[in-house]
Amino acid sequence: MCVPTPLDEHFEPDLSFVLSTMESLVPHLRPGQVVSLESTTYPGTTDEELRPLIEKRGLVVGTDIFLVYSPEREDPGNPDFSATMIPKVVGGITEDCARVGQALYQAVVSEVVPVRSTQVAEFAKLLENIYRAVNIGLVNELKVAADGMGIDIWEVIEAAATKPFGFTPFYPGPGLGGHCIPIDPYYLTWKAREYGVHTRFIELAGEINTSMPHWVVQRTMEALNQRSKSVKGSRILLMGLAYKENVDDMRESPTFALMDELADLGAEVAYYDPHIPEIIPTREHARWTGARSVEGTPEIIAGFDCVLIATNHRVFDLAGLLESADLVIDTRNAIARAGLTPREGQVVKA
Ligand SMILES: NC(=O)c1ccc[n+]([C@@H]2O[C@H](COP(=O)([O-])OP(=O)(O)OC[C@H]3O[C@@H](n4cnc5c(N)ncnc54)[C@H](O)[C@@H]3O)[C@@H](O)[C@H]2O)c1
Repeated sequence: MCVPTPLDEHFEPDLSFVLSTMESLVPHLRPGQVVSLESTTYPGTTDEELRPLIEKRGLVVGTDIFLVYSPEREDPGNPDFSATMIPKVVGGITEDCARVGQALYQAVVSEVVPVRSTQVAEFAKLLENIYRAVNIGLVNELKVAADGMGIDIWEVIEAAATKPFGFTPFYPGPGLGGHCIPIDPYYLTWKAREYGVHTRFIELAGEINTSMPHWVVQRTMEALNQRSKSVKGSRILLMGLAYKENVDDMRESPTFALMDELADLGAEVAYYDPHIPEIIPTREHARWTGARSVEGTPEIIAGFDCVLIATNHRVFDLAGLLESADLVIDTRNAIARAGLTPREGQVVKA
């Protein structure tokens, strides 16, 4: 079972998809079958929520049904890892559950990592994502500090990353996106509260990462101001609506937060993303429903007062962009990484 595990409006786990899927499966279960939950969730879900649903039907977990938790690990858009190459963590409710679950996964993936319990497997997945959220939060905070000091954070990271041990580079950006990293950490926050633990790192990283779009808008305002322009009335093009490069997934994308704030300030906002030609209806971003990606031709780009690189898709022609755009706000260090030399003051990193 790998169904969505979102947060509700109070930032609390919404297990309704998991529970309703399990409830609809239970009447069809037969002794000897394996049930594996792969959705990201808090430690205890498999044991506390799924096990009772199975046992209510009179089936014994560990004898009739083998219940395991094995987190989904995927990096969408990354061609270097296929599902079968990524080691699979598996924890079972009982030792027999674990053995059967491992045998199942061993048949399809190259490496199975057995752990002592479903709780360890559930927590391991959250640790992986919290690690990313916190480190991205850290580097986003340092970006703001470095900017104030007139230091290029990207150069700093590049230098630090030459240390051959004890340092893993993370990169700043316009905010966190996707349906995993901004959301999953709060599953642990919620569960930890039950044990009187306040997960301060998670909350702080969330706060910093959520404040990034506003910080980028402030830098955009200042750059326009340098050109004697106000945000109000300026034509601003956002490049990249997807939350990460080379994918067509716009869930939780910080580009929406940027578009919202710039539009609220009176800018005329458009977006360019060949992976997302049109914005489909969503509850969170209803105001943008039906908006269509502009084409990235030189004539069209030249018609904007400012182009903001939010996500650096491989298909973008950055050299062409520099020929047509007056002002580029680069939240991904895309221009420097492409080895391009902009005109003086043309590119502002944010
Ligand atoms: N997509 C990823 O890269 C990724 C990586 C790691 C972990 N996860 C985790 O995997 C889980 C699923 O995420 P996803 O991105 O694959 O979600 P998704 O939105 O792609 O949905 C996954 C599947 O669930 C089905 N589904 C949706 N609602 C359902 C319902 N009410 N009942 C039954 N089936 C339903 C969908 O049709 C789809 O087949 C989440 O817990 C997520 O955190 C996803």
